[in-house]
Amino acid sequence: MAHETSLRAAYESHFRVGAAVNAATVRTHADIVARHFNSVTPENEMKWERIHPSEGQYDFVSADQIVLFARDLGMFVRGHTLVWHNQTPAWVFLDDLGQPAPAKLVEARLEAHIAEVVGRYRGVVGCWDVVNEAVIDQGDGWLRPSRWRTALGDEYIEKAFRLAHQADPSALLFYNDYNETQPDKRDRILRLLEHLLDRGAPVHGVGLQMHVSLDDPPVEQMEAAIERYRALGLRLHITELDVSVYPWVHEPDRPQHPTRPYDEEVAEKLAARYEALFALFLRHADAIDNVTLWGVADDATWRDDFPVKGRKDWPLLFDVEHRPKEAFWRVIRLVRG
Ligand code: GLA
Repeated sequence: MAHETSLRAAYESHFRVGAAVNAATVRTHADIVARHFNSVTPENEMKWERIHPSEGQYDFVSADQIVLFARDLGMFVRGHTLVWHNQTPAWVFLDDLGQPAPAKLVEARLEAHIAEVVGRYRGVVGCWDVVNEAVIDQGDGWLRPSRWRTALGDEYIEKAFRLAHQADPSALLFYNDYNETQPDKRDRILRLLEHLLDRGAPVHGVGLQMHVSLDDPPVEQMEAAIERYRALGLRLHITELDVSVYPWVHEPDRPQHPTRPYDEEVAEKLAARYEALFALFLRHADAIDNVTLWGVADDATWRDDFPVKGRKDWPLLFDVEHRPKEAFWRVIRLVRG
């Protein structure tokens, strides 16, 4: 019967199924999360600007709320994220005079941040996205220019992994990125991971964000990437899965892309896409431990504002009224056979 079906139970012997939640949705979407998911990722609440807004001032209120919610329900928590070029306050990189801070100071701040945040959730947060999106999308080179890289050089990534491992030796440590199946970027990410592993850095897994759309990228491309990543011997987490019903649009074209209706045709395409994706994950379930969706239901999704501001999207398995969509049933039927 519909009300007895549970996504996490259906996939229990394959991998955890997770959702990104926030301080609001752990209340407004608590029923769905409790029934269908056994892993949560704080959407923004553990990012530097939220949890450590000014030097030495930590704000754990919202992150704690999510962690306690998860603990009460016996859920896994994915910590997200320690080092990123976005949502990091400017003070981290500046001295008292507002000038670029010396490397020693930035490094001391990184150390303090990781010790405090990872230390607080030791034994409760099962894994961390230690470094998010450090690889460039295109062009020459491999690492993204960022304030982290300017301040600390390329080795900031390895440093962050070592610090996280010190702060919680039992947490699994991940490198997380987007466009991770696109062959050029995939190869750069692989190069970074190989470099870290060669140096003996404590990297345990790779997070594949998987913000995808109905037709793109093709499953074959995604599978080729999964095969390459798993061949490194790392664990795989699908960390931010959602399926936009719109094709990707580049920035200058965005204003010309209005909302389309969510009709049966779109619902069917979305269902077929989700079925193909979960079939792919099942084929690699011996390497994949966690499949997390970036949100719970279509009434609260970042896709409504990205890449086109104010354009309604329907990227998740539950609709705006929190009812399971056709895509949900296909994902369930797939595993039940
Ligand atoms: C990236 C980040 C996430 C989130 C999404 C958009 O993928 O890793 O934390 O910000 O963008 O919501």
